[in-house]
Amino acid sequence: MGARVTADSVSKSYGGGGGGGDESRAAGVDALAGISLTLEPGSFTALLGPSGCGKSTLLNLLGALDRPTGGRILVDGRDLATLGEDERDAYRRKTAATIFQFFNLLPTMNALENVALPLLLDGAAPAEADARAASLLAEVGLHGKERAYPYELSGGQMQRVAVARALANRPTLLLADEPTGNLDSKTGTQVLDLVSGLVQERGITVVMATHSVEASARASRVVRLLDGQLLP
Ligand SMILES: Nc1ncnc2c1ncn2[C@@H]1O[C@H](COP(=O)(O)OP(=O)(O)O)[C@@H](O)[C@H]1O
Ligand SMILES: [Mg+2]
Repeated sequence: MGARVTADSVSKSYGGGGGGGDESRAAGVDALAGISLTLEPGSFTALLGPSGCGKSTLLNLLGALDRPTGGRILVDGRDLATLGEDERDAYRRKTAATIFQFFNLLPTMNALENVALPLLLDGAAPAEADARAASLLAEVGLHGKERAYPYELSGGQMQRVAVARALANRPTLLLADEPTGNLDSKTGTQVLDLVSGLVQERGITVVMATHSVEASARASRVVRLLDGQLLP
Protein backbone atom coordinates (compact mmCIF):
# COMPACT_ATOMS: atom_id res chain seq x y z
CA MET A 1 0.00 0.00 0.00
CA GLY A 2 1.26 3.47 -0.86
CA ALA A 3 1.78 6.28 1.59
CA ARG A 4 -0.76 9.02 2.15
CA VAL A 5 1.09 12.33 2.16
CA THR A 6 -0.31 15.65 3.31
CA ALA A 7 1.55 18.92 3.06
CA ASP A 8 -0.09 21.55 5.22
CA SER A 9 0.96 25.18 4.52
CA VAL A 10 4.54 24.10 3.92
CA SER A 11 7.06 26.86 3.41
CA LYS A 12 10.81 26.84 2.94
CA SER A 13 13.25 29.72 3.00
CA TYR A 14 16.95 29.32 2.38
CA GLY A 15 19.48 31.55 4.02
CA GLY A 16 18.66 34.80 5.81
CA GLY A 17 17.30 34.71 9.33
CA GLY A 18 20.51 33.31 10.83
CA GLY A 19 21.68 35.37 13.78
CA GLY A 20 22.58 39.01 13.56
CA GLY A 21 19.47 40.88 14.52
CA ASP A 22 19.69 43.50 11.81
CA GLU A 23 16.18 43.38 10.40
CA SER A 24 17.23 45.23 7.26
CA ARG A 25 19.70 42.57 6.10
CA ALA A 26 18.94 40.80 2.83
CA ALA A 27 16.15 38.25 3.23
CA GLY A 28 16.72 34.63 2.22
CA VAL A 29 15.16 32.94 -0.79
CA ASP A 30 11.54 31.92 -0.26
CA ALA A 31 11.57 28.69 -2.26
CA LEU A 32 8.13 27.51 -1.10
CA ALA A 33 5.41 29.83 0.14
CA GLY A 34 2.71 27.82 1.87
CA ILE A 35 2.02 24.64 -0.09
CA SER A 36 -1.00 22.53 0.85
CA LEU A 37 -1.43 19.26 -1.00
CA THR A 38 -2.65 15.73 -0.37
CA LEU A 39 -1.30 12.71 -2.23
CA GLU A 40 -3.60 9.69 -2.06
CA PRO A 41 -2.09 6.24 -1.56
CA GLY A 42 -1.04 4.77 -4.89
CA SER A 43 -1.54 8.01 -6.84
CA PHE A 44 0.90 9.26 -9.48
CA THR A 45 1.23 13.04 -9.34
CA ALA A 46 3.36 15.26 -11.55
CA LEU A 47 4.71 18.45 -10.06
CA LEU A 48 5.06 20.66 -13.13
CA GLY A 49 6.84 23.98 -13.26
CA PRO A 50 9.84 25.87 -14.63
CA SER A 51 13.34 25.71 -13.26
CA GLY A 52 13.63 27.41 -9.88
CA CYS A 53 9.93 27.17 -8.95
CA GLY A 54 10.62 24.94 -5.94
CA LYS A 55 10.09 21.38 -7.21
CA SER A 56 13.29 19.89 -5.82
CA THR A 57 12.81 21.79 -2.58
CA LEU A 58 9.39 20.20 -2.10
CA LEU A 59 10.65 16.71 -2.96
CA ASN A 60 13.55 17.13 -0.52
CA LEU A 61 11.08 18.04 2.23
CA LEU A 62 8.81 15.08 1.40
CA GLY A 63 11.86 12.82 1.49
CA ALA A 64 12.98 14.22 4.86
CA LEU A 65 16.28 15.29 3.31
CA ASP A 66 15.53 18.77 4.58
CA ARG A 67 13.10 20.42 7.01
CA PRO A 68 10.38 22.97 6.23
CA THR A 69 10.67 26.48 7.62
CA GLY A 70 6.94 26.47 8.29
CA GLY A 71 3.95 24.15 8.07
CA ARG A 72 3.76 20.39 8.45
CA ILE A 73 4.22 17.26 6.37
CA LEU A 74 2.24 14.21 7.41
CA VAL A 75 3.04 10.79 6.02
CA ASP A 76 0.47 8.18 6.97
CA GLY A 77 -0.60 10.54 9.72
CA ARG A 78 2.88 11.04 11.17
CA ASP A 79 4.34 14.54 11.22
CA LEU A 80 7.89 14.23 9.85
CA ALA A 81 9.01 16.94 12.29
CA THR A 82 8.27 14.63 15.21
CA LEU A 83 10.62 11.88 14.00
CA GLY A 84 13.86 11.42 15.90
CA GLU A 85 17.12 11.07 13.97
CA ASP A 86 16.96 7.26 13.81
CA GLU A 87 13.35 7.40 12.64
CA ARG A 88 14.26 9.94 9.97
CA ASP A 89 17.06 7.65 8.78
CA ALA A 90 14.65 4.73 8.66
CA TYR A 91 12.10 6.87 6.82
CA ARG A 92 14.70 7.80 4.18
CA ARG A 93 15.92 4.23 3.89
CA LYS A 94 12.61 2.41 3.80
CA THR A 95 9.58 4.64 3.25
CA ALA A 96 10.61 7.33 0.78
CA ALA A 97 12.87 6.50 -2.16
CA THR A 98 14.19 8.98 -4.71
CA ILE A 99 15.30 8.80 -8.32
CA PHE A 100 17.25 11.67 -9.82
CA GLN A 101 17.91 13.34 -13.16
CA PHE A 102 21.55 12.23 -13.15
CA PHE A 103 20.81 8.76 -11.75
CA ASN A 104 23.27 9.12 -8.84
CA LEU A 105 24.64 5.59 -9.22
CA LEU A 106 27.91 4.84 -7.49
CA PRO A 107 30.44 4.71 -10.35
CA THR A 108 32.75 2.18 -8.67
CA MET A 109 29.96 -0.35 -8.16
CA ASN A 110 28.36 -2.49 -10.82
CA ALA A 111 24.60 -2.58 -11.41
CA LEU A 112 24.00 -5.44 -9.00
CA GLU A 113 26.08 -3.80 -6.26
CA ASN A 114 24.27 -0.49 -6.70
CA VAL A 115 20.89 -2.16 -6.24
CA ALA A 116 22.06 -4.40 -3.39
CA LEU A 117 23.57 -1.51 -1.41
CA PRO A 118 20.36 -0.18 0.21
CA LEU A 119 19.46 -3.74 1.18
CA LEU A 120 22.84 -4.28 2.82
CA LEU A 121 22.55 -0.92 4.60
CA ASP A 122 19.21 -2.11 5.91
CA GLY A 123 20.82 -5.22 7.34
CA ALA A 124 20.10 -7.85 4.67
CA ALA A 125 22.47 -10.81 4.40
CA PRO A 126 24.74 -10.46 1.32
CA ALA A 127 23.37 -13.50 -0.51
CA GLU A 128 19.81 -12.40 0.07
CA ALA A 129 20.63 -8.84 -1.04
CA ASP A 130 22.27 -10.11 -4.25
CA ALA A 131 19.35 -12.37 -5.07
CA ARG A 132 16.81 -9.60 -4.57
CA ALA A 133 18.95 -7.13 -6.53
CA ALA A 134 19.20 -9.59 -9.43
CA SER A 135 15.46 -10.08 -9.46
CA LEU A 136 14.84 -6.31 -9.40
CA LEU A 137 17.28 -5.83 -12.29
CA ALA A 138 15.40 -8.48 -14.25
CA GLU A 139 12.14 -6.66 -13.51
CA VAL A 140 13.50 -3.43 -14.98
CA GLY A 141 14.68 -5.26 -18.09
CA LEU A 142 18.37 -5.49 -17.24
CA HIS A 143 18.87 -9.23 -16.89
CA GLY A 144 22.44 -9.91 -18.06
CA LYS A 145 23.69 -6.45 -17.06
CA GLU A 146 24.30 -7.28 -13.38
CA ARG A 147 28.08 -6.93 -13.69
CA ALA A 148 28.03 -3.82 -15.88
CA TYR A 149 29.40 -0.61 -14.40
CA PRO A 150 27.49 2.65 -14.85
CA TYR A 151 29.94 3.90 -17.52
CA GLU A 152 29.11 0.81 -19.58
CA LEU A 153 25.38 1.57 -19.54
CA SER A 154 23.23 4.00 -21.54
CA GLY A 155 21.31 6.77 -19.78
CA GLY A 156 18.09 4.79 -19.99
CA GLN A 157 19.79 1.71 -18.55
CA MET A 158 21.33 3.74 -15.72
CA GLN A 159 17.91 5.13 -14.85
CA ARG A 160 16.53 1.58 -14.83
CA VAL A 161 19.22 0.59 -12.34
CA ALA A 162 18.25 3.63 -10.25
CA VAL A 163 14.60 2.54 -10.35
CA ALA A 164 15.53 -0.96 -9.23
CA ARG A 165 17.64 0.51 -6.42
CA ALA A 166 14.79 2.81 -5.36
CA LEU A 167 12.40 -0.14 -5.10
CA ALA A 168 14.85 -2.34 -3.19
CA ASN A 169 13.62 -1.64 0.33
CA ARG A 170 9.94 -1.66 -0.70
CA PRO A 171 9.21 2.06 -0.30
CA THR A 172 5.65 3.33 -0.12
CA LEU A 173 6.57 6.74 -1.57
CA LEU A 174 8.67 7.32 -4.68
CA LEU A 175 10.05 10.81 -5.30
CA ALA A 176 11.26 11.27 -8.87
CA ASP A 177 13.18 14.49 -9.50
CA GLU A 178 13.28 15.21 -13.26
CA PRO A 179 13.78 11.48 -13.93
CA THR A 180 13.65 11.98 -17.71
CA GLY A 181 15.54 15.28 -17.75
CA ASN A 182 18.69 13.65 -19.03
CA LEU A 183 17.10 11.16 -21.44
CA ASP A 184 15.92 11.52 -25.02
CA SER A 185 12.16 11.55 -25.35
CA LYS A 186 11.78 7.91 -26.49
CA THR A 187 13.98 6.59 -23.68
CA GLY A 188 12.25 8.91 -21.23
CA THR A 189 8.88 7.52 -22.24
CA GLN A 190 10.14 3.96 -21.78
CA VAL A 191 11.46 4.75 -18.31
CA LEU A 192 8.17 6.40 -17.32
CA ASP A 193 6.22 3.41 -18.66
CA LEU A 194 8.40 1.17 -16.56
CA VAL A 195 8.05 3.31 -13.45
CA SER A 196 4.28 3.64 -13.75
CA GLY A 197 3.89 -0.12 -14.29
CA LEU A 198 6.08 -1.10 -11.36
CA VAL A 199 4.60 1.39 -8.94
CA GLN A 200 1.03 0.53 -9.94
CA GLU A 201 1.66 -3.16 -9.28
CA ARG A 202 3.00 -2.25 -5.87
CA GLY A 203 0.52 0.53 -5.08
CA ILE A 204 3.35 2.99 -4.40
CA THR A 205 2.54 6.71 -4.20
CA VAL A 206 4.62 8.66 -6.73
CA VAL A 207 5.50 12.33 -7.07
CA MET A 208 7.45 13.30 -10.15
CA ALA A 209 8.98 16.76 -10.52
CA THR A 210 9.32 17.85 -14.11
CA HIS A 211 9.44 20.96 -16.27
CA SER A 212 8.16 18.92 -19.24
CA VAL A 213 4.46 19.03 -20.08
CA GLU A 214 4.97 15.84 -22.08
CA ALA A 215 6.43 13.96 -19.11
CA SER A 216 3.76 15.31 -16.76
CA ALA A 217 1.05 13.88 -19.03
CA ARG A 218 2.13 10.39 -17.89
CA ALA A 219 0.85 11.11 -14.38
CA SER A 220 -2.77 10.76 -13.38
CA ARG A 221 -2.73 14.19 -11.77
CA VAL A 222 -0.76 17.30 -12.64
CA VAL A 223 -0.07 19.96 -10.02
CA ARG A 224 1.47 23.19 -11.27
CA LEU A 225 4.02 25.07 -9.22
CA LEU A 226 5.18 28.62 -9.90
CA ASP A 227 7.41 30.79 -7.70
CA GLY A 228 6.93 28.46 -4.74
CA GLN A 229 3.15 28.38 -4.94
CA LEU A 230 0.65 25.92 -6.34
CA LEU A 231 -1.45 27.24 -9.18
CA PRO A 232 -5.17 26.62 -8.76
N1 LIG B 1 20.36 25.06 -0.92
C1 LIG B 1 19.84 26.20 -1.39
N2 LIG B 1 20.26 27.40 -0.90
C2 LIG B 1 19.74 28.57 -1.36
N3 LIG B 1 18.78 28.65 -2.29
C3 LIG B 1 18.33 27.49 -2.81
C4 LIG B 1 18.83 26.22 -2.40
N4 LIG B 1 18.17 25.25 -3.09
C5 LIG B 1 17.32 25.89 -3.88
N5 LIG B 1 17.41 27.23 -3.73
C6 LIG B 1 16.59 28.25 -4.41
O1 LIG B 1 15.22 27.94 -4.17
C7 LIG B 1 14.43 28.15 -5.32
C8 LIG B 1 13.78 26.82 -5.73
O2 LIG B 1 14.78 25.90 -6.14
P1 LIG B 1 14.49 24.40 -6.54
O3 LIG B 1 13.61 23.79 -5.51
O4 LIG B 1 15.79 23.75 -6.81
O5 LIG B 1 13.64 24.57 -7.90
P2 LIG B 1 13.38 23.54 -9.09
O6 LIG B 1 13.70 22.18 -8.62
O7 LIG B 1 11.94 23.74 -9.42
O8 LIG B 1 14.26 23.99 -10.22
C9 LIG B 1 15.37 28.72 -6.38
O9 LIG B 1 15.29 30.12 -6.31
C10 LIG B 1 16.72 28.22 -5.92
O10 LIG B 1 17.74 29.07 -6.37
MG1 LIG C 1 15.01 20.78 -9.40
